[in-house]
Amino acid sequence: MRVVVLKETKAGEHRVAQTPETVAKLVKAGVEVVIEAGAGLAAGFDDAAWKGATVAPDAKTALSGAQVVLSVQPVSEALVPHLSRGALLISFLPSARRPALAERGLDALAMEKVPRTTRGQAVDALSSQATVAGYKAVLLGASRLPRLLPMMTTAAGTLTPGKVLVLGAGVAGLQAIATAHRLGAQVSAFDVRAAVKEQVQSLGAKFVDIDGVGSAEGSGGYAKEVGADDQARIVSTLARVVPLADLVVSTAQIPGRPAPRLITADAVKAMRRGSVIVDLAADTGGNCELTQAGEEVVTDNGVLVLGPRDLAATMPLHASMMFAKNVLTLLLLCLKDGALSLPLEDELIAAMLVTHGGVVRHA
Ligand SMILES: NC(=O)c1ccc[n+]([C@@H]2O[C@H](COP(=O)([O-])OP(=O)(O)OC[C@H]3O[C@@H](n4cnc5c(N)ncnc54)[C@H](O)[C@@H]3O)[C@@H](O)[C@H]2O)c1
Repeated sequence: MRVVVLKETKAGEHRVAQTPETVAKLVKAGVEVVIEAGAGLAAGFDDAAWKGATVAPDAKTALSGAQVVLSVQPVSEALVPHLSRGALLISFLPSARRPALAERGLDALAMEKVPRTTRGQAVDALSSQATVAGYKAVLLGASRLPRLLPMMTTAAGTLTPGKVLVLGAGVAGLQAIATAHRLGAQVSAFDVRAAVKEQVQSLGAKFVDIDGVGSAEGSGGYAKEVGADDQARIVSTLARVVPLADLVVSTAQIPGRPAPRLITADAVKAMRRGSVIVDLAADTGGNCELTQAGEEVVTDNGVLVLGPRDLAATMPLHASMMFAKNVLTLLLLCLKDGALSLPLEDELIAAMLVTHGGVVRHA
């Protein structure tokens, strides 16, 4: 079986879908691996690092005879005609990109469709990348603050600890809490899923209880949208809580829906000059009314609102290592006696296989 690892082409995408460590495991399993030249450079792996694999000079050469194609972002449209019918693609794959792949007769496993189950954990790229993003969001915010986060008693005076508020305590939010806590900040957090309170507290943070707001847990452990009354209670409580924070990291998301609006422009107006908001929900509309995806906004009262996209791609070494392991685990499920064999009945494959037999599944 010939597996190809492509060089990413999207601007700002520094990750790579495999690492020398995971490639060595594929080679040991009897797989022929071809790496597009330069694929690992941005993540810290030069072409000589891919022991046991062949390095092809460009994508078209690499794709010749490919049975499996691995990438972080979807294969570019320009490369689709160079893929052989029946080849298997594994990457993140937004739904808009799926029809063209189905039409070409390609099988595609979309990494974002991983079931959030115990068995899915080893393949869960949403979680591995959210872990990196949550960590980086705190570092990004902390580096833009005019103050330190830890308490310090020094000969030059005592510094009080900074206050960090995390909104949404899923995978990214919990990692943001842990990171802010390690930096010495006083951390508090809010989520609409009641089950999260204990996890927040176990990380040393205070849970923001909002009177009258019940748990909004939907299917698969995800949050569902709250009703208008609860939404009004959340927004008005956060209007009091947000201005107390030096740094707010917001991560609240509802699958398939716009991000819940949690921080109003008025709440930002009440924040101290120099405070920072890092809105990880920027791509789905933002948790803050002032967020602009991919942009930095400075308000009249001197608050910085950051709406970073793809933060995981900015820490490409560890993000790639985790993504590569997720992909390797998935790929090994599709390997039988050294040949490609899709176990269609497997619950992970069934959930993640978005194009097969010329059609888009899970429309
Ligand atoms: N293998 C597993 O068992 C596994 C792995 C990963 C995640 N999970 C679970 O999957 C779920 C989703 O995790 P995720 O990190 O992808 O979540 P996500 O990115 O979809 O959302 C982030 C957080 O925002 C919260 N949120 C939504 N609306 C909100 C609002 N109005 N106010 C405040 N917070 C709000 C959600 O409850 C969630 O905790 C969680 O229950 C998580 O524990 C399970």
